[in-house]
Amino acid sequence: MNDLQQYFDRIQPRYYINEIASLGFTRLFRKMAVQKVKSYKNKRVLDLMSGQGENLKFLREPNENTEIITLDFSTAMNLKLFSTFKEKLFIRQIGDDFFETEIPDNSIDIILCSYGTKTIGEDQKLVFADRLSRIVDEKGEIIIVEFVKPKTAWRFTCVKWYIEIIVAKFFGSEFGKLFHYIHKNESLQDLKNQFVINQLSVVSHKRYLDLVEILHVKRN
Ligand SMILES: C[S@@+](CC[C@H](N)C(=O)[O-])C[C@H]1O[C@@H](n2cnc3c(N)ncnc32)[C@H](O)[C@@H]1O
Repeated sequence: MNDLQQYFDRIQPRYYINEIASLGFTRLFRKMAVQKVKSYKNKRVLDLMSGQGENLKFLREPNENTEIITLDFSTAMNLKLFSTFKEKLFIRQIGDDFFETEIPDNSIDIILCSYGTKTIGEDQKLVFADRLSRIVDEKGEIIIVEFVKPKTAWRFTCVKWYIEIIVAKFFGSEFGKLFHYIHKNESLQDLKNQFVINQLSVVSHKRYLDLVEILHVKRN
């Protein structure tokens, strides 16, 4: 088990604090991202780095033909997701590292990934984009939402101070660690570029509050 898996296993019981510490913005942008897709009816959905399944409550119009696969390497997150959704949705869970899992090419209509990309190493980002590009089927969509490093100096300072001092003091130092990953994550532009190289088209790519980006791409 690597350090990141242990970290997410450890914080799972208090993961809800992210919603509180982010003043509700994590939830707001996650909902905006998931609802870029107007209907999940009859779709094969992959919720990548699914955590406790926070995305799943925002799926619009799922039906009995909606196939949901979640993937996360944290056992604690997977157990919580299972207990929350076992009676509401039909879900197949993959409890493994994305980079060590084989998901067949062209097997998914919608790939969602919320707040999971910032911990991907620089050397693996293009591999990540390439794999998603292969997994998504014709007319399939990929939606990624992530915290990014603010470009404006004063916003950067505010976010650093808020997370490293206020959040860490009130909610625990493990939540303060989040800043380390935001600091490293300039933008989703590199993923976007690779999707374009892989012949996917960009539906939208926006930055909100100079802190969160949502990238939506599609295979034509
Ligand atoms: C910040 S949480 C996001 C959870 C959820 N998607 C959300 O919106 O709150 C990131 C999740 O990604 C998982 N994760 C990170 N890297 C992973 C990898 N390489 N393979 C599988 N899961 C991974 C972690 O276990 C964690 O549950």
